[in-house]
Amino acid sequence: MNVLLLGNGGREHALAWKMLQSPELNKLYVAPGNAGTAQIAENVNIGVTDFPTIADFIAAQGIEMVVVGPEDPLVEGVRDYLEADGRFKGLKIIGPGKAGAILEGSKDFAKEFMQRHHIPTAAYRTVTPAQVEEGKAFLRTLKPPYVLKADGLAAGKGVLILNSLEEAEKELEEMLGGKFGKASSRVVIEEFLSGIEISVFAITDGKDYKILGSAKDYKRIGEGDTGLNTGGMGAVSPVPFADEAFNRKVEERIVRPTIEGLRKDGIDYKGFVFFGLMNSGGDPFVIEYNVRMGDPETEVVMPRLKTDLIRLFDATATGNLSEVMFEMDERVCTTVMLVAQGYPEKYEKGKEIEIAQVEGSIVFHAGTKLSEGKVVTNGGRVIAVSSFGKTIEDGLQHSYANIEKITFEGKCFRRDIGKDLMDWQ
Ligand code: AMP
Ligand code: GLY
Repeated sequence: MNVLLLGNGGREHALAWKMLQSPELNKLYVAPGNAGTAQIAENVNIGVTDFPTIADFIAAQGIEMVVVGPEDPLVEGVRDYLEADGRFKGLKIIGPGKAGAILEGSKDFAKEFMQRHHIPTAAYRTVTPAQVEEGKAFLRTLKPPYVLKADGLAAGKGVLILNSLEEAEKELEEMLGGKFGKASSRVVIEEFLSGIEISVFAITDGKDYKILGSAKDYKRIGEGDTGLNTGGMGAVSPVPFADEAFNRKVEERIVRPTIEGLRKDGIDYKGFVFFGLMNSGGDPFVIEYNVRMGDPETEVVMPRLKTDLIRLFDATATGNLSEVMFEMDERVCTTVMLVAQGYPEKYEKGKEIEIAQVEGSIVFHAGTKLSEGKVVTNGGRVIAVSSFGKTIEDGLQHSYANIEKITFEGKCFRRDIGKDLMDWQ
């Protein structure tokens, strides 16, 4: 099979790494890819939302499967675009069409969907600029802290959590006034859920699904979960507090009703579903849906996947997921992200990266590129170092030992990934 993978992060390097293990793979292209994917596949310099160029490349190279990594091309309708092209009958596409991707593209849509299908989530109200006063009145019915979400995609920055009613009212006005551009022309006001966050991943062919396990992500830049939000500074899979009883609740109350809900709504969804959940006193609630895998969660989920990924994708695309033998590794996998100094604010790129002999870990490139034969930094999140372990400590010990073998100017990382989970084991 000739495959085109869209994206250029650690997630895509991990997906590429897993696909490379499949005897079903003939040739893998990654657009645009990074220095890590360049080592194992062929990078092609095409942007992930440049649909006409992507389509011409698919036609020219005889691509049989397209795997979409990030959300932007999905929300912008890459599947719909390729399906409408008469040249691509039988092309296998992993990732939902526009009608499914709106689960991530509109928080209001996602809330309505959950309400319609009785999926547990926080109470909410969506308001437009003409409804500021209704919004403020709804805020007054809630207890602090207050949660405000821009309806549309806002590069992970569209959620505000405010401690006072006064601040929340002011932010609501600013958001509806265009603080996040078009993304906040509608704002979802939500009840605050307390608890511990956990992500659960599934893949569906529109009828059946397979659960790829759980992961915990460390979003803040600073140790002890302090400072600004990032794309994710590390991850652990599986999550020890997600015991059998909790996992059963997640499947029965959330995963199954979501897949059935999509079908009932006439949405033909083929791809990953990322459930961002809150474990509130042992009960799972949906905080958000994403229509792709997480990053850095993919860097701990893909190593644990024992099933051939190309076969899994093939079955997903052709509606045969129920026939796939599906298996996850029982071991723990941990990852620690190396980031550029200054990230998530201003940081420099182009720093040379040296990687000495790494043993007992997998090095996934994120923001890296090849420049004059050298690997240099090309983003805020640079490299994820993933390791298996019998326990979380064991995995992390390998990740932290191997981090010492990777050098670049301004290398930063959190030293406390997984610490909060160690008591649960
Ligand atoms: P989201 O982009 O929807 O994942 O929200 C970003 C972050 O805000 C989440 O990862 C949570 O930490 C937090 N958050 C979002 N919604 C809520 C909520 N209803 N209650 C508590 N925390 C929330
Ligand atoms: N790590 C969170 C995400 O991929 O959205």
